[in-house]
Amino acid sequence: MSRALRTGLLLAASFAATGLITTELHAAPDPLTPTGQWSVTARGQAPLPPMGWNSWNAFNSDIDEEKLMAAAKALVDTGLAAKGYRYVDIDDGWWLKRRQNDGRLLIRTAAFPSAQTGDGNTSFRPLTDRLHGMGLKAGIYSDIGRNSCGQAYTADFKGQPEGNVAEREVGLYDHIDQDIGLMMGEWGFDLIKIDGCGIRAMSPENKLVSSGQYRALGPLVDYENLSRTDIPAVRDLYRRVGLALARTRPANDYVLSICLWGAADVRSWAKELGNMSRTSEDISPNWERMLHNLDSASRRELYAHPNSWNDPDMLYVGTGEFDTAHVQEARSHMALWAMLNAPLIIGYDMRKATPELLSILGNNALIALNQDAGGNQAVLAYDGDTAQIFVKTLADGGKAVALLNRTGGPIDVKLTAAHLKLREDSGIDLTDLWTGAQSRFTKEVNLHLAAHQTLVFRVAGARAHPGGLYLSEMPGSVNPAVDGIVEPMADPMVHRGLLPWRNTRGDGEHPIYGGWGGARADATPYGMSLRIGGVNFSSGIGALANSRLEVRNAGYRNFAARVGIDDSALSPDARVRFEVFADGRSVARSGWMKRGDQPVALNAPVEGARIIELVARGDRGDLQNVTVTWGAAALDR
Ligand code: GAL
Repeated sequence: MSRALRTGLLLAASFAATGLITTELHAAPDPLTPTGQWSVTARGQAPLPPMGWNSWNAFNSDIDEEKLMAAAKALVDTGLAAKGYRYVDIDDGWWLKRRQNDGRLLIRTAAFPSAQTGDGNTSFRPLTDRLHGMGLKAGIYSDIGRNSCGQAYTADFKGQPEGNVAEREVGLYDHIDQDIGLMMGEWGFDLIKIDGCGIRAMSPENKLVSSGQYRALGPLVDYENLSRTDIPAVRDLYRRVGLALARTRPANDYVLSICLWGAADVRSWAKELGNMSRTSEDISPNWERMLHNLDSASRRELYAHPNSWNDPDMLYVGTGEFDTAHVQEARSHMALWAMLNAPLIIGYDMRKATPELLSILGNNALIALNQDAGGNQAVLAYDGDTAQIFVKTLADGGKAVALLNRTGGPIDVKLTAAHLKLREDSGIDLTDLWTGAQSRFTKEVNLHLAAHQTLVFRVAGARAHPGGLYLSEMPGSVNPAVDGIVEPMADPMVHRGLLPWRNTRGDGEHPIYGGWGGARADATPYGMSLRIGGVNFSSGIGALANSRLEVRNAGYRNFAARVGIDDSALSPDARVRFEVFADGRSVARSGWMKRGDQPVALNAPVEGARIIELVARGDRGDLQNVTVTWGAAALDR
């Protein structure tokens, strides 16, 4: 929960106590009041995770027109474009300078000759026209600060902006409307990735700044510390980008990709502003780093929705520990990104793509999982340091499961009917999505995983809950609009592997903030099993007190849950009342509950309602980490 929200709740509580609530006081609106709205952004177009290619992982900033067009041609020629890989995105390294008489950005025409327009201007329009003519879409890259990541971090960067201090200020800061108009209007790009190094790295103490090379800005973001991050200021900059995009592209036909690496509490607000949002620092082509990026998104299943996806960064399939000599790892990376509904953005020099690589990137069954219309990110059915089991519910009610061996040695794991929320007493059919092999089991099956292997299957069986869907099976339709976090904490669960550029220099990798404490499917916000008054729930939504969850209702008639303060809550004094709203109307409510109380059944008719809201209101606005459980929460026909 934001500070503003907490203040709002405290104010509301104290005004209520003194009978002082009047319209004149203008107390902050109570964020737990139902709105009857789905607050995930409707701006931009990403009903399914975007797919395509980006220059960064393949070429770093050493990008030019020839390489880009070769990638575009390869996407078309290999059939990958027809399978959905349509965005061709230019990353860092394209810009030359900002012209000073009118602030117009100039393109590095030595690298992009077609951008030279003859009148002294430069334009990417010929390039985007060519891409569009091939049936592709075009993406561009900028920074929300004055300067780029290359300027901030890489001295020997290829394609570094040139000129004096002001000319080298190529980022959006102070130029949001102009630059968005240029890139997304005049130049006709369809996607813009907006990085944040310019508001992160340009502190007055930075040598590049104190030596006069760049102007100081902020910093507004401290990657390691939320307390040193100006979250409202960062959010406001991206909000202004959103407004500029809406003005420039009234047809709403674009993608806004937010690149804040999980910092600045972006987890809690990206879903209202962006179509995809990075959850971690950059991926590297090695297993440990892939695990890190995976973990940064894998426990945020309720924060990915149609039109706003978690982005654990681009694919490194084809390179380093994910090259074709490491087929197990390459397939794992691809399968996991597909299960997580991650944008599938290839980062490989497509001129060198082998049939083997294409068979991984182009696996139809995996692409279909990623692009499934249900829009549900996989949920962790088993979460361990050694093995993890991810289950994804598909639009047709079917399931997919991925079993990941995180370790460098072989392991055996058991897949159970319970993991899949299927009945134990009838057969469950598995289709291996890499080999097509079919098998059947009842109750449980032992599976052998090679080092770093991910087995991934389509599953068919009899549902344990045949009347409808558990909310934890439809995370794409559940949005923690208010998640109840009072003081954000760093996430201790994310794999802290060796960083290639740092190795063991320094005192180690630390937990960093990234959404720890947010609502979860089938777990408490802190990764425990759901349990109320000694009663275990294998399905349900775990949240915090003072939270409001929005649920989209696709035609179901009844809502049911068994609710209560979770047994894992620390405070014995906290009191929480649970209430269900259908399109803003209260339809079911519990009394005030304390920890240890037996779960209370809430049942409500919701026929015809579009949005159901689940509010867990605490008796105080500043309740810290009081876990609450919507046990067996389900929508039924
Ligand atoms: C990083 C970003 C990368 C890449 C790079 C370019 O901040 O996370 O994906 O865009 O900047 O310099």
